[in-house]
Amino acid sequence: MRGKHIVIGVTGGIAAYKAVYLVRRLQESGAEVRVTMTEAATRFVGGNTFAALTRHDVPIHIFPENPSGISTNWTQHIHWAEWADMMVIAPCTANSLAKIVHGFSDSMLTTTVLAARCPVLICPTMDGEMYKAPSTRYNLNKAEDLGYHLLTPDHGYLASGMKGVGRLPEIDVIIDRMIQILEVAPSKRSSIEKISPTLREVLSDKKILVTCGPTREYLDPVRFLSNPSTGKMGMAMAAAAAAHGAEVTLLHSDSVSTTALAPSIRKLAFTTTEDLFRQVKSHADSDIIVMTAAVSDFRPVETHTHKVKKDKADLNIALERNPDILKWLGEHRRSGQVLIGFAMETSDLLKQAREKRVRKGADWIVANDLGSEGSGFAFDTNKVLLVGSHSENHFEGTKYDVSSNILHHIFVP
Ligand code: C5P
Repeated sequence: MRGKHIVIGVTGGIAAYKAVYLVRRLQESGAEVRVTMTEAATRFVGGNTFAALTRHDVPIHIFPENPSGISTNWTQHIHWAEWADMMVIAPCTANSLAKIVHGFSDSMLTTTVLAARCPVLICPTMDGEMYKAPSTRYNLNKAEDLGYHLLTPDHGYLASGMKGVGRLPEIDVIIDRMIQILEVAPSKRSSIEKISPTLREVLSDKKILVTCGPTREYLDPVRFLSNPSTGKMGMAMAAAAAAHGAEVTLLHSDSVSTTALAPSIRKLAFTTTEDLFRQVKSHADSDIIVMTAAVSDFRPVETHTHKVKKDKADLNIALERNPDILKWLGEHRRSGQVLIGFAMETSDLLKQAREKRVRKGADWIVANDLGSEGSGFAFDTNKVLLVGSHSENHFEGTKYDVSSNILHHIFVP
């Protein structure tokens, strides 16, 4: 969290006092925090508490008035929305959730959310029956559709004295989720809109299969052949496709944590290439397939069921070739299907990508330049060449923005 700009929005629920601890903990982890609250929240915690902790104004109304009655700060919501790397609404009442989802801008909090370019994490916190109410379910689904991140509330004792779902999760859980979101999502919305209506129209009835992360080919139960892929690019592709309304299935390496991704994305884990191949085949009827997984080209001929003792090990490992999944998809594609492959190269990027596209029968190859700073394995940013049959384009930025740009270029040319 070091150096991150966080805006916390506090709404009027009993858990508002926990936001005080959230502010403190974020500050301890190096973040710069500002707080905006709703009028109702001030019934639970005084604005002065947050002002003292953050050493900053705690805006409530859009038109704050100075003593002479003239508003001086009426564009503050825009400045805060620009300033923030992330907004967290904790606690978020059913009322504030409804307002956010429907684009209300009747307080500094809702207006700042509307103007935000950064990821927004909503922590719904309310009575269990209110959480289950059809209108709240509708608003939660809608919030997710609109690209907001949601943290599921905890089960336990509620302010009513009854037990149920609706408690604000522990501070650690909120911060963990924030860290995960910041790893995957864009730090700032860049040149592209958060949600593009046109791309949404194209993707909203599409099934997309995305694969991500490294395969592992086990020599014995504790040793394997693999690669440094972190799955970030594939997760960003899945997040961008889901944010634009696609029905996304993500096949991810079991070494990759996907908890930062929206619950609407179906997530299935794989270990080996064979395992991945089997799962890809069972989703081979998808409208779009994005093969971001870093697949191991070889696997050991033999996998020992017990750990091989150091002194008994054969120092030569016999390998065999793994199936080329993308090539198989290229040979078995159904009509109208769009196949997108990835390539990592250290030299002759363009030439290799062009050849790979034809050799594998893919429509598009996204080529990563491994030699370039801020690009490739583990980075949150990427620099890629998108190679199609008639176009070659360069994109760079956060992996999320690169993903959105790729989807725009392919589907809304
Ligand atoms: O041949 P190369 O590994 O460079 O190709 C990379 C692309 O092919 C990626 O999209 C990757 O997911 C896919 N691939 C595959 N099966 C393999 C190797 C790579 O589907 N065995």
